[in-house]
Amino acid sequence: MINWWSSENFWRKTAIWVTAFMLAVLIGLTFHSVSAIQAGTHRVPAYSVINQRIDYRFDATRNYMVPVLGEEAPLFGKKLSAEEAEALVTKGKLTTQAKNCMNCHTLLGNGAYYAPDLTKAWLDPGWGSAAVREELMLKFLQDPGGNPRGFGSGRRMPNLGITEEEARSIIAFLKWMSSIDTNGFPYNFKPIKQEG
Ligand code: HEC
Repeated sequence: MINWWSSENFWRKTAIWVTAFMLAVLIGLTFHSVSAIQAGTHRVPAYSVINQRIDYRFDATRNYMVPVLGEEAPLFGKKLSAEEAEALVTKGKLTTQAKNCMNCHTLLGNGAYYAPDLTKAWLDPGWGSAAVREELMLKFLQDPGGNPRGFGSGRRMPNLGITEEEARSIIAFLKWMSSIDTNGFPYNFKPIKQEG
């Protein structure tokens, strides 16, 4: 006499039910993830956030740094509509993909570890001050060798033939990305001073 818990039939049914249940969980989590990573949601601000100042402050309850959206501070001094902002950030994102920045950098933790993570690059103290940051980023992206900055890697970024227009869109993409609440990632990041 075979016990019910050691019968083949019982384990076959269990395997089917567990697989079906986990499939349902997976589908549920997929929909949840997709909604949680959309721009314009709780943690991922709308693209028009590039019209605002982005601070990065310590949150005592969560015990890590979180982006805080501030007053109006349009990128390159030009306020964009929601559609214009989306178009610019999207162009920047596509440019980072076309130029394969992930070959050296990580973005939101994905990519290679040769160069610094770019998630909070907009807030990097390496740009000196918020007042000169946009200008320096424009110059650096178009000619990294001629405009070296100290980002602590001790390495040099090559010239990737980025045009000024592409550089502007990349900066918009980086500014938007820095506003994403990433649960404190990258850990121990110290932001630029926000004097202006
Ligand atoms: C071949 C490797 C390589 C590729 C590809 C590359 N970078 Fe870099 N990048 C570097 C290195 C190395 C540094 C660090 C330079 C330093 O420490 O002075 C850097 C630094 C930077 C910084 C400043 C980092 C910071 O913390 O603020 C930005 C912004 C940046 N890169 C953007 C890009 C973008 C955008 C692309 C794609 C268009 C790209 N990089 C592609 C190697 C690369």
